[in-house]
Amino acid sequence: MIKIDGKATAAEIKAEIAKEVSEMVARGEKRPHLAAILVGHDGGSETYVASKVKACEECGFKSTLIRFEADVDEATLLDAVGKLNADDDVDGFIVQLPLPAHISEQKVIEAIDYRKDVDGFHPINVGRQSIGLPCFHSATPAGILTLLERYNIPTKGANCVVLGRSNIVGKPVATLLMQKGYPGDATVTVCHRATKNLKEVCRQADIIIAAMGVPGFVTADMVKEGATVIDVGTTRIPDASRKSGFRLSGDVDYENVAPLCEYITPVPGGVGPMTIVSLMRNTLLAGKKAIYK
Ligand code: GUN
Repeated sequence: MIKIDGKATAAEIKAEIAKEVSEMVARGEKRPHLAAILVGHDGGSETYVASKVKACEECGFKSTLIRFEADVDEATLLDAVGKLNADDDVDGFIVQLPLPAHISEQKVIEAIDYRKDVDGFHPINVGRQSIGLPCFHSATPAGILTLLERYNIPTKGANCVVLGRSNIVGKPVATLLMQKGYPGDATVTVCHRATKNLKEVCRQADIIIAAMGVPGFVTADMVKEGATVIDVGTTRIPDASRKSGFRLSGDVDYENVAPLCEYITPVPGGVGPMTIVSLMRNTLLAGKKAIYK
């Protein structure tokens, strides 16, 4: 069993990005600039955005954090998006999700200029990704594919089972895994709450991507010997013994599943750091105008 080290892989890629940025700056080019909008004080979102700001520093990017209270109205938020769209110094930006229920996430996502949509959530990027055109790939799926690639995990003809059909992970990772070439060419099955015979479907899988947000959902009886298991779950479980007051739980019963696997990602330290590094890579591409002019 090989435990995939997302933290080390992410550190390697951040170092590659930082090197490229220092060369760009030495040539007199502009430092890439990522902006983030954070609404409210949700613990998870605060942590993710803080990690994104820190990663910007490590990569040599400029970053700007724009905060609103949870009761901000939709028009104010849309106005902030419009200002970032128009700001030539900002290469890319994100609006951290989830947003409070009184704000339409879809409306906000569609207000972002797709050329600055480094999260890859705008329908233009989603559509371009699905037909294999250059675009900003959404960060978690891109991070998962980078891990498969860096660990040389075969995907051609592999049976890949994706658990969960979210717009952020399940659907886009399925799309990427079925594209032509490596890391793709997989036979992909997307499972969700209406899937029949889920255990049997999972047992056929060479690669399982677990992204439902249900702690410990994938148990040993669902995993074939020699499978690769990628755990996208990051549920916060209250834990008084931790300084933070919680621990992160993945969607996989790691202790019992890991011995069966050829490769497995831990939580934390697997997919999480790769998500952030994929956002950094998109920001670099945005700064270089490598995808859209
Ligand atoms: N919330 C959970 N994951 C993400 C992400 O990748 N981007 C944004 N903007 N919000 C998220």
